[in-house]
Amino acid sequence: MDLVIRNASLPDGRRHIDIAMLDGRIAAVGERLPLQGRREIDADGDLASPPFVDAHFHMDATLSYGLPRVNASGTLLEGISLWGELKPQLTQDALIERALQYWDWAVARGLLAIRSHVDICDDRLLAVDALLEVKRRVAPYLDLQLVAFPQDGILRSPTAFDNLKRAIAKGVDVVGGIPHFERTMAEGATSVRLLCEFAAEQGLRVDMHCDESDDPLSRHIETLAFETERLGLQGRVAGSHLTSMHSMDNYYVSKLLPLIREAGVAAIANPLINITLQGRHDTYPKRRGMTRVPELMAAGVDVAFGHDCVMDPWYSLGSADMLEVAHMGLHVAQMTGQEAMHQCFMAVTQTPAKILGLEGYGIATGCHADLVLLDAGSTVEAIRLRAARRVVVRRGVVVAESPRASAALNLPGRPGQTNFRLGR
Ligand code: FE2
Repeated sequence: MDLVIRNASLPDGRRHIDIAMLDGRIAAVGERLPLQGRREIDADGDLASPPFVDAHFHMDATLSYGLPRVNASGTLLEGISLWGELKPQLTQDALIERALQYWDWAVARGLLAIRSHVDICDDRLLAVDALLEVKRRVAPYLDLQLVAFPQDGILRSPTAFDNLKRAIAKGVDVVGGIPHFERTMAEGATSVRLLCEFAAEQGLRVDMHCDESDDPLSRHIETLAFETERLGLQGRVAGSHLTSMHSMDNYYVSKLLPLIREAGVAAIANPLINITLQGRHDTYPKRRGMTRVPELMAAGVDVAFGHDCVMDPWYSLGSADMLEVAHMGLHVAQMTGQEAMHQCFMAVTQTPAKILGLEGYGIATGCHADLVLLDAGSTVEAIRLRAARRVVVRRGVVVAESPRASAALNLPGRPGQTNFRLGR
């Protein structure tokens, strides 16, 4: 074997598991495997998980913090106008450099697949070309899926639909949209129909920024579910953000949830961003603005958490840590039950992998030999500690390593160090 990890715990609760990897694939998973590895790693009971997956990101804006100025108010609308100021100044080299730096952070955090929206409203399609180049360069160590995202509206911006088609022709993978940003509700609904028809024609997936608003009457998710079903796109469509659902009338939502489920539309919440950008017109009580995550899950909808932004016009913080995302999602949604906390871990691993349609994802024989070994004994402990990534493996090769978390102590009558793990 190329690599064997001994005595790991798995997200499904199995313990004392060995994982053997050969030629980039997982060759065997089981207790005390009688196989030798060229390299062996003792997990010592720690959690081995398939890598983190970020279902919603903006790679063209990331790490641009302070360019050309910082977002003084921290609001969504100032962020959008700031992005408008930055766009004409973007260069391909700078975009590529920032994206590659972000990928260094991501790999170190065990984040090995990202779906990134790329703004196609710049007629030069500079960011599209840059991110396609990045995708080619990083392919050996991670999966980048690109969404053609019309930030200024597919109908509102006169060249956007043409640009979107050009971006898809160049190799962008997924059709995006932003119906709540079109001029009217009716135009928003038309944009959903046109984009879904285009995706169906081309055999592509769809992922729209949908109803990223506190307006309870922003109901484009209803149209998205309807068009998905009408065009036979079930299982290939995601609604990102869906924050208006937070503010919707409960009676309407009781009809909407089964409709989303029936259409096989997935939901992607972005807890760090939704909690900071939504509810800005409120005094008190202030709405949280994240979509109805546990209710969607209970209705049988696939729900993932995305990072959305890191150090860009909309968000000054972040470090590619999907456990930080899960931690925030858990708190905002009050998902503090044992199973609910576990579901928050799934929302940054298994569920987004399904939404992206990643092939060979998981810890099972025949899957890609990709995993992250965490300084934690369980999925819940991983979220609690935002656990250190002891080892990150891609195609059977160790691509990043970090020390366990521990602090040296100098206290009378107490141990010389602590590691924040209960019972260890
Ligand atoms: Fe977004």
